[in-house]
Amino acid sequence: MALSEDFLNELRLRCDIETIISQYVVLKKRGRSITGLCPFHSEKTPSFHVSSDKQLFYCFGCGTGGDVITFIMKIENLSYIEAVEFLAAKVGLEVPQNNVDDKVSKLKGRILEINRETAKFFYKALNAPQGAEALSYLKNRKLDDKTITRFGLGFAPNSWDSLVKHLKKKGFSEYEMVAAQVAIKSRKDNLIDFFRNRVMFPIIDLRGNVVAFGGRKLSEQDNGPKYLNSPETPVFQKNRVLYAMNFAKTSQYSDTLSKNGRDRYFILCEGYMDVIALHQAGFDNAVAPLGTALTENQVNIMSKYVPGVVIATDSDEAGQKAAKRSFELIDKAGLGTKILKLRDAKDPDEYIKKFGAERFGMLLNDSISAIENELEAIMKKYDTDTDSGKVQALKEASKALAGINNAIERDVYISRLSQKLSVSSQAIAQNVNNIIRQRQNSIKRQERANLSVNVSPKDTVNVQKRKLLSAAVCEEWILGSLFCHPDFYKILKNEQIDSSSFVTDWGKKMFSIIENVVTSSDTLDLMSLSGVLSPDEMSRMAEVITKDGSRINTSEQFSELIESLKKEKRKQSISGDSIKMLDDQSLKNLIEEISKDKK
Ligand code: UTP
Ligand code: MN
Repeated sequence: MALSEDFLNELRLRCDIETIISQYVVLKKRGRSITGLCPFHSEKTPSFHVSSDKQLFYCFGCGTGGDVITFIMKIENLSYIEAVEFLAAKVGLEVPQNNVDDKVSKLKGRILEINRETAKFFYKALNAPQGAEALSYLKNRKLDDKTITRFGLGFAPNSWDSLVKHLKKKGFSEYEMVAAQVAIKSRKDNLIDFFRNRVMFPIIDLRGNVVAFGGRKLSEQDNGPKYLNSPETPVFQKNRVLYAMNFAKTSQYSDTLSKNGRDRYFILCEGYMDVIALHQAGFDNAVAPLGTALTENQVNIMSKYVPGVVIATDSDEAGQKAAKRSFELIDKAGLGTKILKLRDAKDPDEYIKKFGAERFGMLLNDSISAIENELEAIMKKYDTDTDSGKVQALKEASKALAGINNAIERDVYISRLSQKLSVSSQAIAQNVNNIIRQRQNSIKRQERANLSVNVSPKDTVNVQKRKLLSAAVCEEWILGSLFCHPDFYKILKNEQIDSSSFVTDWGKKMFSIIENVVTSSDTLDLMSLSGVLSPDEMSRMAEVITKDGSRINTSEQFSELIESLKKEKRKQSISGDSIKMLDDQSLKNLIEEISKDKK
């Protein structure tokens, strides 16, 4: 999707990268260098760099980089065009409409209108006579009017097509209703309501749009699953939405979850009703995935708002399994996390009903780390009064303890375990250390094995880089220098370099894209490319410009680079395209054959 040059220029002028990024990252300026802690991976010393001159950012730690649009795409989880719209709105610019992919964006708009109208329709139905049973269902579950309104809860009438009829009257087409997934074709080819006779939960995204619905059946005897959720639509990607995040994102609920004072955090639940019950009880930081396991995208979204998450899943075995999985995912993303232990209730909703909000607050305060949780489960599993039970428990617990990275933390749990099982802590420590050593050895072995197979790791941006290393590096230097000195383009032309002079396919592609920009506009910067390149390619270009671009400063040096490229190209034509494209195995076979011939 290409934006007009005029529009891009205006956006460039108004969206200075340093100003925009400093709204998300604390930046420190020293001379020309601007650095901060990378928002895309967890780190303690800053390796995130912003360049005002080149209007780009690059993290030396995780390799993420790009222009201001790429930054917004990543940090706000938006598509390219959404990020452009986001930035434009921030600085009061209007995105020219003919530039937007018209059909899709129009349909998206219509779907959002349908969803809003549908939510209103369900809400009215809940409060009409036909919704009496649904309303009393919610009242029985102890939801008050304020909560029902706040969450926009509703009722999908017990009829085949009352919503379809309503939306038709409002001027929506059948095609649009099906695209929004609020209606489906019946077997007889009639259009019928997707949700029927269910209590409805609208799902609202971070910008306040209704993007989907969940519907719960009123009684066990009714047909279908307990909860029915909207399938994905152009405006709804399940793995990127968390229920009630629209409220939780501004919740001020905080606690001493981390060591550096009071921090905000989210409570991660399993279901709609848990979230709503918690919000009603004052815990407006509760969120939940939508009937699926927690995803990396959802963790990323949470990490943009809070430094920690308390996991409050159901107390049954499935819930505990889910908790462990979520814990690992959240921990991996660098967020603080703890698991809440529910006692005598199956889920947070039931707990609050039985014991009240205050007791739940106390539970939150002594929510425990995953390792405590795991150790508790191990102790319960075995009869530790018998010797054999003790040995079994000790074996399993040692494995769990060996997974703790922090030595002090490990010690604390070892001495606790030693008291519980009356076994000396030295013995346990020795056991744990043996496991750690074994694991380290096996990792080393694995690494050595990998090393002998791959010379360097796979490169997903330039897939030929591994095999054509010197050519690919030479190309990167040329591309990077070109960004820092657009006037070098003249030298390339004098030397009759065009995209076919490049060796790797990626080099060819990049050069023709850049050439297109250079010859059609006055500005060459990353922003001119962000509509065409993938985020990974943007990161690579930011890296190339930051690392390689500054190495070449004179036209003589640049000419030398061109000579190297020509040499690489000749090397390739001699060795022939057939060898260039061979994979590892075929290459081995070929070498074997050649050496056979020689014998
Ligand atoms: P649960 O079965 O634990 O339900 O499912 P719940 O949240 O306790 O609901 P109530 O209290 O019985 O009303 C947890 C979540 O899993 C999803 C829903 O998102 C639900 O909130 N789920 C469950 C489905 O998507 N479909 C189902 O059929 C059941
Ligand atoms: Mn429940």
